[in-house]
Amino acid sequence: MYNIAVAGKGGTGKTTFIALVIKALIIKNLKPILAIDADPNINLPQILGITYEESIADIIDETKERLDNLPAGMTKERYIEYRLEDCLKESSGFDLLIMGRPEGPGCYCYANTILRGHIDKLSKNYSYVIMDNEAGMEHLSRKTTRNVDYLFIVSDPSLIGLKSALRIYNLVLELKIKVVKCGLIVNYYNGSLADFPNLKESGLPLCGKIPHDQDILDLAIKGEDIFKLNSNSKAFLEVQNILEEQVFKIQLNS
Ligand SMILES: Nc1ncnc2c1ncn2[C@@H]1O[C@H](COP(=O)(O)OP(=O)(O)OP(=O)(O)O)[C@@H](O)[C@H]1O
Ligand SMILES: [Mg+2]
Repeated sequence: MYNIAVAGKGGTGKTTFIALVIKALIIKNLKPILAIDADPNINLPQILGITYEESIADIIDETKERLDNLPAGMTKERYIEYRLEDCLKESSGFDLLIMGRPEGPGCYCYANTILRGHIDKLSKNYSYVIMDNEAGMEHLSRKTTRNVDYLFIVSDPSLIGLKSALRIYNLVLELKIKVVKCGLIVNYYNGSLADFPNLKESGLPLCGKIPHDQDILDLAIKGEDIFKLNSNSKAFLEVQNILEEQVFKIQLNS
């Protein structure tokens, strides 16, 4: 199993990048794929063309009250696992897990521990696990993003964007988050990129520049899914390049 996740400032194109990665893996027939939407502001299903009724958080909220009142012989762990099995949306070429945002008060530690175990167990059934994250650093400081083979930090070409990407990278190092490789992606690239010497010295490699692509924007405006995107889209071609260089080549050599 190979695990890819994203991090980055708000609106830099993380969800779009993750969707393009999934599209590229499907085209290369690198299945089965598990997509995880770990952003509480659930956006990945829409761009993948999936409708859903319940997130994992909804199910945990709903079952939390029932945990002290289970049918005889049913353990809490078994009950939560049984309900979680309903959450996996199966689609053509990939499955999707939607984490959502817990609403209710009280402690989620118990449910979260089971959830972590469930995802770890489930992940073993897939060749690729691809995770979209919320903007900012909380998923790193809470260590919900961990054990990642490749963490892509996505930025726009601005100085503020690059500074923010570097801060994220430094946090990954500081917290010793288990990440095998980390690379910077500059999205919305149109030929110019802020000059930021600290980034060059930081050890965070620039591994791709995704062009600003009207096809992507048109798709988003129409609310269509990523599978309707023209395969000649400039952004998609660059994401395929990035995967070839950063993931497939390295996998072949290892
Ligand atoms: N390369 C690109 N060219 C043109 N438009 C793009 C490109 N990448 C993303 N977009 C558009 O920019 C908007 C924001 O993208 P996206 O939702 O992927 O960002 P995000 O980083 O996931 O945002 P958030 O931080 O809210 O999760 C979307 O409308 C998307 O269609
Ligand atoms: Mg997003």
